[in-house]
Amino acid sequence: MTAPPFDPAALRAAEYPWMDAEGPYLNAASTGPMPRRAVAAAEAWAARRARPHTIPFEDLLGTATVARRQFAALVGADADEIALMPNTTYGLNLAARGLPLRPGVVLTFDGEFPSCVYPFEALASRGITLERVPRRDGLPDEDALVAAIARPDVVAVVVSWVQFATGYVADLARIGAACRAAGAFCIVDGIQGCGVRPLDLHALPVDVFASGAQKWLLGPWGTGFVYVRRGLLEVVQPHDVGWACMTGTATDYRRLTDYAFDFLPDARRFEVVTLAYHDFAVANAAAAVLLEAGVPRVAAYLEALTGRVVAWAQGRRDVRLVTPADPARRAGVVALVPPDLEGAAARLAAAGVAHTVREGAVRLSPHAYNTPADVDAALALLDG
Ligand SMILES: Cc1ncc(COP(=O)(O)O)c(C=O)c1O
Repeated sequence: MTAPPFDPAALRAAEYPWMDAEGPYLNAASTGPMPRRAVAAAEAWAARRARPHTIPFEDLLGTATVARRQFAALVGADADEIALMPNTTYGLNLAARGLPLRPGVVLTFDGEFPSCVYPFEALASRGITLERVPRRDGLPDEDALVAAIARPDVVAVVVSWVQFATGYVADLARIGAACRAAGAFCIVDGIQGCGVRPLDLHALPVDVFASGAQKWLLGPWGTGFVYVRRGLLEVVQPHDVGWACMTGTATDYRRLTDYAFDFLPDARRFEVVTLAYHDFAVANAAAAVLLEAGVPRVAAYLEALTGRVVAWAQGRRDVRLVTPADPARRAGVVALVPPDLEGAAARLAAAGVAHTVREGAVRLSPHAYNTPADVDAALALLDG
């Protein structure tokens, strides 16, 4: 059966029937609202979880298998390069602790979300320091980063694919290529782009890519994944080691005390413990919405929606557009500074337009369920 074509209005009617009455939700960059089918999956799995003996073991393993497969499909990876994680930061910590980083410098952009900062600052006792490349005109300075990567003391780079506050989309091909040329690892926080921008990790020089599913993937809190490039699966030494990552015990609980220290051959070696199967079942239902719609089509739709904000801001002398206007450099996040920031945010909130304020700017983050009218309503309120 072929999937029906992506129709934002139909998606909204089927999965977000509350939104017309309650007001536009323009805050996927904070938390993605779960589609109706994911809520149904949550209810069904809660009922099953109440009687765990009725859930075949194969259903649990199958849920995890589907999750790895779907996340892989969304980022252009193979399922055996995907480990299920509770969030983005766990995957970034896997990179920080598990990659064989020699003493030296890890580079990031100033202005990154703290998940790109603290896990690497925590490596000081190993002689590793984190250096933040200063911003240029408020945005990441990619030229300066790429120039700095060539320094002999640089051992890794960690950047967001899409920045949380500016919406800036990093050129992963360029940054990754510079890392390869310098023998440095390339680590990416993907949560602000994953699901709404096409990605082909196999075509990119990216070593580790981490994302939670609670934002653009519309899934529940506590779900996410990390991609580890195939060639690094046995190079990354997991800091956390448990029982669920070993070949003998991951899928057969009958001989747990054989104690064969033998990591699984694929990325499941980084899944240390019992997974939140019911949450991943919900995440699967949610991610299916995007897979059915098609990420390239969602991306094109979001480009048009955020383009309305960009055009509006560019037409106003009193509004500062934080996000780059170039569609190649933005995804679903668009940030702008209106003349009266607090007043504008209060008007949006009073009118029921879900948004947020980050780093001194109003951040709007529409998704596939939003309409041009949603965005225009927000702009009219920003106008005062
Ligand atoms: C760029 C970025 N990374 C990470 C996170 C969150 O990390 P985690 O999924 O680990 O909670 C956010 C948002 O909260 C984010 O915007």
